[in-house]
Amino acid sequence: MYTKIIKPILFRFDPEHVHDFFVATGRVLGATALTRGLVGMFCRYENPMLETTVCGIHFKNPIGLAAGFDKDVQLTNVMPAVGFGYMEVGAVTRYPYEGNKGLRLARLPADQSLIVYYGLKNIGAEEIEKKLKRLSFSFPVGLNIAKTNRADIMGEKSVEDYVETYRMLGKYFAYVTINVSCPNAQDGCTFQDPAMLDDLLGAYAKEEKVCPIFLKISSHLSEQEIDDILAVVLKYSFIDGFITGNLSKRRDILDLKSEKERLDLIPAGGISGKPVQELTTNEIRYIYKKTKGKYVIIGLGGVFTAEDAYEKIKAGALLVQIITGLIYGGPTTVKDINKGLVELLKRDGYKNIAEAVGKE
Ligand SMILES: Cc1cc2nc3c(=O)[nH]c(=O)nc-3n(C[C@H](O)[C@H](O)[C@H](O)COP(=O)(O)O)c2cc1C
Repeated sequence: MYTKIIKPILFRFDPEHVHDFFVATGRVLGATALTRGLVGMFCRYENPMLETTVCGIHFKNPIGLAAGFDKDVQLTNVMPAVGFGYMEVGAVTRYPYEGNKGLRLARLPADQSLIVYYGLKNIGAEEIEKKLKRLSFSFPVGLNIAKTNRADIMGEKSVEDYVETYRMLGKYFAYVTINVSCPNAQDGCTFQDPAMLDDLLGAYAKEEKVCPIFLKISSHLSEQEIDDILAVVLKYSFIDGFITGNLSKRRDILDLKSEKERLDLIPAGGISGKPVQELTTNEIRYIYKKTKGKYVIIGLGGVFTAEDAYEKIKAGALLVQIITGLIYGGPTTVKDINKGLVELLKRDGYKNIAEAVGKE
């Protein structure tokens, strides 16, 4: 019903308005046990084969909501009912930011993709902390931390900005993701540069570790760029793993099918979905093999079906995330993926998700 009737209607409206509408609806549906129960009747699927433990955290299933859908921590009550095993909120930054001006979200249906140019819009760490004091979570919730997207916060100030958000908010979450790969920050992805990354991780290393910590990297990195990042990360034992990958601005290598005028709607935006699917799976595979499974890998990028998720798991991902797949596939997507994963595990003779990791 979603893909045949609801999606064609929704796709006539401005994508950012539709997203805001879904967030508002999700807040209402998450507010009472009755509405959560109703959502769960349609969307939830449970099977012991999907349960897994990563960094001591128990996940009912390996499919999580990726950062960017719930920037301001509004949907943590409803998402377990939607069928997710966990979710990542944010990106949250130390100071609030209203986001980039103009159009900042566009659809690329021919590519099963989105162009994103929010520029780290969020209400900031202080407002988020006020909310967190009143909230409790019924499943693992991670926090995606980025640098405040302001021209006056650069260089050393950027490092302090990142770390302060962790200091203020890290203790409330199951895990923290240091997002060094936002393509829409005013200074670009500078923190993937080895020297800058070293500075940033060196500052984090001085903080008390309050939860598992992951590093979110771009989806289009070369093997050399990954090696350079690994060389830095290996110095810091507090990093538990990688999330790969983020939106990509590398339109030159993405093999996009959409018409030029659609792509030009937001020339500076990052691309999600199908065009980054293979790139991110390659990164998962490369990191998994290169580090012999030493790190937790959370894989995302163009996951629409159980087969897509399974491919990332078999390449080495312990957990998977989706966002574009949810927007294109609708609220029962997570259930369909989880059901399909159980079938694939049975087909291949695995007893549970963990057994399939890295078994390409
Ligand atoms: C609307 C939107 C907003 C996003 N915002 C963030 C963000 O704030 N932080 C982040 O790390 N990734 C963000 N992303 C990237 C996603 O988390 C994900 O890495 C990327 O979209 C690839 O996954 P997908 O193909 O399932 O969408 C955003 C993606 C979308 C579509």
